Amino acid sequence: MSDYLTKLRELREKAMQGGGPERIKQQHERGKLTARERLALLLDEGSFQELGALATHNLTDFGMANQRFPGDGIVTGFGKINGRRVAVYAQDFTVLGGSFSEVQSKKIRHIQDLALESGIPLIGLNDSGGARIQEGVRSLAAYGEVFTRNVLASGVIPQISVIMGPCAGGAVYSPALMDFVIMTRRTSYMFITGPEVIKAVTGEDVTMPDLGGPMVHNAKSGVAHLIAEDEHHAIELVKLLLSYLPQNNTEDPPQVEPYDPADRMDERLNTIVPEDENEPYDAHQVIEMVFDQRSFTEIHPYYARNAIVGFARLDGYAVGVVANQPSHLAGVLDIDSSDKIARFVRICDAFNIPIVTFVDTPGYLPGVDQEHYGIIRHGAKVIFAYCEATVPKISVVMRKAIGGAYLAMSSKQMRCDLTLAWPTAQIAVMGADGAVRILYRKELAAGADPAIFAKFEREYREKFFNPYMAADLGQIDEIIEPRETRPRLIRALEVLRTKVKQNPPKKHGLMPV
Ligand code: HXC
Repeated sequence: MSDYLTKLRELREKAMQGGGPERIKQQHERGKLTARERLALLLDEGSFQELGALATHNLTDFGMANQRFPGDGIVTGFGKINGRRVAVYAQDFTVLGGSFSEVQSKKIRHIQDLALESGIPLIGLNDSGGARIQEGVRSLAAYGEVFTRNVLASGVIPQISVIMGPCAGGAVYSPALMDFVIMTRRTSYMFITGPEVIKAVTGEDVTMPDLGGPMVHNAKSGVAHLIAEDEHHAIELVKLLLSYLPQNNTEDPPQVEPYDPADRMDERLNTIVPEDENEPYDAHQVIEMVFDQRSFTEIHPYYARNAIVGFARLDGYAVGVVANQPSHLAGVLDIDSSDKIARFVRICDAFNIPIVTFVDTPGYLPGVDQEHYGIIRHGAKVIFAYCEATVPKISVVMRKAIGGAYLAMSSKQMRCDLTLAWPTAQIAVMGADGAVRILYRKELAAGADPAIFAKFEREYREKFFNPYMAADLGQIDEIIEPRETRPRLIRALEVLRTKVKQNPPKKHGLMPV
């Protein structure tokens, strides 16, 4: 064999070994796969085309002259997932803790640029100790270059980030700028500053999982959208998400062969809303009965559980589902659920996915904390996102659609294409109780006969606690039997599939962030 070939093969072989057998063993002992093993699981067999496998840093300070590894702690390139092209990078913790270097940045930037120009999704597998300390400010600039490209690609190509180990310091912001963040249950954590720095600065004692573990970010901060049991599951979740998403914002999402009859009606829907208006029911069950069987994938399932968002299919077409959840805080809209809904609506709109909204909410949550932390600003995001969205939008009022929340949850006036309601719908400006307290304040204070309040309440309920006045006024297009929801949605979406609607030309709106 020629010397040329021998040298190339030796270098390639070295690149395959990452940080060496000992580091790979440690990685496995921690229940983690290597970057290359992860990519092998993610990509169709034989589809991976690596770029930059032989790139190394040029540092000589801090003992780095002897620490050169081909690839410099990251594997980047292109491949296919279920036959569809994707750009990928996977940080290699076995090389210098996967720390983020100038070379890593250049490699990521290259595939970010190519992914954006070619209109294909970007997937990042993160496992890194953050900015490579020995590179000093160079690695800061290197992060900035990646963030810029994340932002430019936002809304053009899907961007999915999986956290499979540490993700600390500046490293968190590239995932945070992407569309979906998946964290592995036992091995991942994300934070800006670690427990030691926090202890020194604020005196607080906190463990790594309590500070930035997967459940913290899935249930509390909302930074992460999904939690994976292990790395295999995380990879499956990436594939699942991609199955609902188009390659880029100029394409439609992929369609699957319909497998659930379009005219299927589930009789249980007709009795799912309890007679007692204060009794909860689970909106998940409604979703399961209406959409193609087993097609629903919930996003943010642990965060702001008073709202449900996720992807499903109707007659094989991808749709975004938003629902108030009456079985959690009565489905009230608060700060977190507003953020959750607004973000999801914008993702659907960016990627041409129609939105179906199920409404059962008593309104925006009253409370001093809610007001002080900005329910006005956060609640406005829901209105902004729905009004701005030009994809087909259909709403179904199941029960309560009270006050501002009626408007916010994809009402006719918020450019909803078709508004349906079940006979159990209650569409009113406020609850009967509140109305009595405001209109009869003086009489209540004077201790007037309770019968007059009861009479008012009864009349108010008769008039407004149903969908008929709203239908009479055209705010609701059609009142349907709950069991008819699936076929009605399918037929409506068939018509709306070719909907063309544009917003006025502008640089960008000023969403109340
Ligand atoms: C250089 C690093 C590194 C880093 C880890 N290593 N992080 N090298 N720069 N940031 C090296 C370690 O020195 C070690 O090398 C090897 O990677 C494995 O690390 P260990 O510490 O042995 O692993 P482990 O015990 O699992 O701990 C992992 C860790 C820890 C928790 C991530 O390494 C750690 O705390 N690293 C620093 C995390 C951090 O604070 N990053 C923020 C950087 S500042 P040897 O050869 O000794 O085995 C930042 C700001 C950027 O990111 C802002 C941009 C906007």
